[in-house]
Amino acid sequence: MPVEYTERGMLKYTKKLIERFKNPKNVGEIENPTVVATEGDPTCGDMFKMFLKIENGRIEDVKFLSFGCAANIATGDMTADLIKGKTVEEAGKLQIKEIADGLGGLPAIKMHCATLAYRTLKKALTKYKQKQAGGAQARPKG
Ligand code: FES
Repeated sequence: MPVEYTERGMLKYTKKLIERFKNPKNVGEIENPTVVATEGDPTCGDMFKMFLKIENGRIEDVKFLSFGCAANIATGDMTADLIKGKTVEEAGKLQIKEIADGLGGLPAIKMHCATLAYRTLKKALTKYKQKQAGGAQARPKG
């Protein structure tokens, strides 16, 4: 999506993105989450925190806190919707393009904002898998 600006010189976002930014459904924290992950973007200094509630390998709930821009809040909210109800394996296959497409597109210079949410998800899923592997090793055999 080419970079477009409004007549007031502001970055032009899609209506879907603006709506998500104004009314995100998944902002907040989960009490007793299965896993929590935080990532930062060194280019802009923003941060993103994701909470996952996973039961029997399925993502039952997703919440996030964004310390970023409008695009990060919107893409974080879209990411949460796209993975909610999916298995950990299915969520691991999510592509950044799906997040941007869900918002009707994203200016190229804002793709890193979607990447921040995406990287946080990947980190959370990796932590979950490590936790599962650790738990399996800790269990007594037989
Ligand atoms: S500018 Fe930092 S997340 Fe968008």
